[in-house]
Amino acid sequence: MAKLSVCLAGATGWAGSELARGVFETTDMELVAAISRSQAGRILGEVIGIEELATPVFASVEEALKTDPDVFVEFTKPDVAKQHVLAALKSGAHVVIGTSGLSNEAYQEIDEVALDVKRGVLAVGNFALTVVLLQKFAEMAAKYIPHWEIIDYANSNKVDAPSGTARELADRLSKIQESQLDVHLEEIEGPKESRGVRLQGSQVHSIRLPGYVISLDIVFGMPDQKLILRHESGSSAKPYVNGALLAIREVGKLVGLQRGLDRVMEF
Ligand SMILES: NC(=O)c1ccc[n+]([C@@H]2O[C@H](COP(=O)([O-])OP(=O)(O)OC[C@H]3O[C@@H](n4cnc5c(N)ncnc54)[C@H](OP(=O)(O)O)[C@@H]3O)[C@@H](O)[C@H]2O)c1
Repeated sequence: MAKLSVCLAGATGWAGSELARGVFETTDMELVAAISRSQAGRILGEVIGIEELATPVFASVEEALKTDPDVFVEFTKPDVAKQHVLAALKSGAHVVIGTSGLSNEAYQEIDEVALDVKRGVLAVGNFALTVVLLQKFAEMAAKYIPHWEIIDYANSNKVDAPSGTARELADRLSKIQESQLDVHLEEIEGPKESRGVRLQGSQVHSIRLPGYVISLDIVFGMPDQKLILRHESGSSAKPYVNGALLAIREVGKLVGLQRGLDRVMEF
């Protein structure tokens, strides 16, 4: 069977380079193009230390898409991600989005274009299996407990807030119900910001400090009892690789946008 050809934007980054290693180690995929402005013109294997990896690095998505990939993977920055994804869809590729921080409006536009060109897009705020499980457990809890708040923790240099994981969780819970507020935000005595941001019916608080990698708590409260679900990442990008490979294998079965790895998993 022909290998699935993959173009990876952000292949020299923290997450992208680990995924490039993961793709290289599979037998059913081939990395045909990589994108990085600072390493353009080089061979990816030289940049990330895999001698046998001969993938060319391009400066722009437009040049890289000339390799005609089956799947385009976006792992760069939120300010350029939408433009990359739309270009990839229009070139005929299916798309996996790992980049976090895209707005719901951006996702809506991506969905419309994907439906129009009949391609699949799978956007996953966090590819780690432990996060996928947290999302499922939180969805179960939100059916029974109407009060919750989300706290997302990341390093001080993370540019987007709230995190992709927190946004995706808020989006999912909004389909179950909105978290109840006993004191409405307009009735707060003091700065409203102290209550975090209201995001699709969830209160979300983002903490950005040196010393954190990525963690997330969701706290469900009921009279005289609490349920706290916590996810903590380590410092490597390895936990994201298997989930991203699964997304690359499955995205071709979709038409339009789906958010969350569980859309292509069985529970
Ligand atoms: N979904 C998940 O599970 C998951 C996991 C980890 C990270 N993430 C997200 O993935 C994104 C990347 O994170 P990271 O930590 O890997 O970042 P990073 O280490 O800063 O890497 C960014 C990569 O994107 C490239 N890049 C940046 N701006 C670009 C542009 N304008 N055009 C083309 N390429 C560009 C960089 O290369 P050049 O600078 O050379 O262009 C580099 O290869 C973030 O949004 C992060 O939150 C998601």
